[in-house]
Amino acid sequence: MGLNVEKIRGDFLVLQKRIVYFDNSCVTLRPRQVVEAMNKYYYEFSGCAGRSMHQFGNRTTQEVDLSRKQLRKFIDAKKDEEVIFTRNTTEGINLVANSFNFKKGDKVLITDKEHNSNLLPWQLLAEKGTIKLEVINSKPDNTFSMEEFEEKVKDAKLVSIVHTSNLDGVTNPAREIIKTARKNGVLVMLDAAQSAPHKELSVRDLDVDFLAFSGHKMLGPSGMGALYGKKELLEELNPFLVGGETVKDTTYTSREWENLPERFEAGLQNYAGIMGFAEATRYLEKIGLKNIEKHEEKLNSQLTDGLNKYGDVKIIGPSPDKRGGITSFTIGKSDPHQIAMLLDHSANIMIRSGAHCVHSWFNKHKISGTARASLYLYNTPQEVDYFLENIKKIRKLL
Ligand code: ALA
Repeated sequence: MGLNVEKIRGDFLVLQKRIVYFDNSCVTLRPRQVVEAMNKYYYEFSGCAGRSMHQFGNRTTQEVDLSRKQLRKFIDAKKDEEVIFTRNTTEGINLVANSFNFKKGDKVLITDKEHNSNLLPWQLLAEKGTIKLEVINSKPDNTFSMEEFEEKVKDAKLVSIVHTSNLDGVTNPAREIIKTARKNGVLVMLDAAQSAPHKELSVRDLDVDFLAFSGHKMLGPSGMGALYGKKELLEELNPFLVGGETVKDTTYTSREWENLPERFEAGLQNYAGIMGFAEATRYLEKIGLKNIEKHEEKLNSQLTDGLNKYGDVKIIGPSPDKRGGITSFTIGKSDPHQIAMLLDHSANIMIRSGAHCVHSWFNKHKISGTARASLYLYNTPQEVDYFLENIKKIRKLL
């Protein structure tokens, strides 16, 4: 079933402005349902969850529990306590990196296309001598090298890799990666910041150990994310962000940790954000992730065909059917920031430019950056045509 894009667009008040928004890999727009869910908390019952025994406190606790259930269902986890609320994917990855009981010299594997969020936590641990960090190089078309992985995974402890790359939209073969890791007794964490918003995910089906994702890339509020972890693995982590609600009891010299998931949710939480995040996933479920994925692929192939007509346009990565809704490109030797600014100033088209927080990959390839169009459920073929017309116009100005 195709998407009713016109109806969807009606939910996004910001689309009444004459803009084209193609920066969805950075942050998406929000439908009124999400904003209303957040306002409801602030207007009607803005209390504390899990602490205060009055009506606002109880209602907040109830709504947070319901939101966690919804998130659990969205990723098909088995237990509610396997879903920990975080600020974003970055926090989820840092949480695992800094709470995991590594033995000195344990090997962690990442790819050469990691966002800084899935590079820096490991790089710092390696510098302290806690772990050994190794990088899997992509194949020449920027796709995952199963051959190199099979070799390097043999003596690893943990693999932490991007599921869908924010740089070029390529989705790594998570199922195969996890199967191979499993055979070698290795744990796997997925950075699902760019996959959870665009495809159906089942953590049980994937059998992944940890998975982190963000609300702001999937119609939800900024500053909200979630970390999934298998219960038995979460139980083994040492909390590293500690404070209110992470303990049942303390003395001046000791503590009794709280149960999951609160053990990892230190301090007062972003309750409105939690409710908005849950509402965003309800919205996506209603539309259907499979429909969204198909819609983006179709638009991206239209966009790619259009760009390929220009000899000086170079697209990073493989064919559009392997790049979801993302197209990262350069035009000759032009500065990608100039491309983005010209599109914005002359045509109200918003895209991102630069190194997209994957500086390490750009340094390796000696490219200063790319312009990147990233699509979502409310984008239309007409918008893609308009984008292509304007690429044609600005090429003359570059
Ligand atoms: N990771 C985000 C992006 O790719 C910020 O734009």
